[in-house]
Amino acid sequence: MSKTENKKSKWTEENPFTLLVTGSTGSIGQSVSNKLIKKYSKKHPVRLLLNGRNSTKLEQLKKELEQRNYKQSVSILLVCGDLTQKETTRSLRDQCGGKLNGLVLCHGICSESENTLQFTKQKELERIFQVNFFSNARIVRKLSTALKESHGSVVIVSSTSEYQTEFGSGSYCCSKAALAMLAKTLAVELGPYGVRVNSVVPGIVDSEMHHKFFQNMESYQEFLDKCKEMTPTQCVVTPNDVARAVVFLINPKNKAINSAQIVIDGALSQKGAIELL
Ligand SMILES: NC(=O)c1ccc[n+]([C@@H]2O[C@H](COP(=O)([O-])OP(=O)(O)OC[C@H]3O[C@@H](n4cnc5c(N)ncnc54)[C@H](OP(=O)(O)O)[C@@H]3O)[C@@H](O)[C@H]2O)c1
Repeated sequence: MSKTENKKSKWTEENPFTLLVTGSTGSIGQSVSNKLIKKYSKKHPVRLLLNGRNSTKLEQLKKELEQRNYKQSVSILLVCGDLTQKETTRSLRDQCGGKLNGLVLCHGICSESENTLQFTKQKELERIFQVNFFSNARIVRKLSTALKESHGSVVIVSSTSEYQTEFGSGSYCCSKAALAMLAKTLAVELGPYGVRVNSVVPGIVDSEMHHKFFQNMESYQEFLDKCKEMTPTQCVVTPNDVARAVVFLINPKNKAINSAQIVIDGALSQKGAIELL
């Protein structure tokens, strides 16, 4: 059998369709987890591993997901921990049990205060890169055996900031640009083993990450209205919009889709310099 030839895979109770979502407690991660289970439990037993740092939020998410009805059996496993720590990645690898059909890298941070790159401290730049870039490289490295075994699919959640600078968010933009190249490099390196690596590239999403920059709901709503007005499709991107693209890229049927980038921003980033925040 050639390296690219698909093994006959039948997902059963003993060998469920196994998925891992990092950043699962975030706005986008929750939608992704929800939609992945919904789609893949229609036909196969599913095993879903969820990562985040906050155990209360993780437990809450597990509870919510378990309350829904699924056609096939679903088991949810929580792996709580900071992904900048090697032990967390090790636990994820151990819990996968040597098989991984889908990996969604959805964790990420931006700077707590806006600052131009020239005035950003080295420590802060490194902190952003540790989470947004290095942790992703480590996870894929550690899980590559399980991904190869399953001919799995990796989806990296990047941002339009990977190709468009945002004044005051230089460290975030640089980390996402590095992440974009990581995705392309891995797609070429792992492709021969039947592992696909693709990215979703959201613009501004109505989410906690943006909400926390605003003092109250009123000013956040004003920001969303402005965003909607400026977007060619006259809509604001939601976590569900991003999650639908992730579910599509995870699908093992999409064997030819590798190194793709799905931009989800209603073409806002094509309008040139944007200063919304
Ligand atoms: N929101 C947007 O407008 C937007 C736009 C473009 C791209 N993105 C990208 O989409 C992804 C998700 O964003 P979001 O809006 O869902 O953000 P969010 O609501 O702030 O969620 C971030 C997630 O990342 C996890 N996380 C942060 N640092 C971590 C670490 N060191 N170790 C493990 N987990 C960590 C958080 O876990 P805890 O809950 O435990 O802290 C949380 O689950 C990010 O990569 C972000 O850059 C977002």
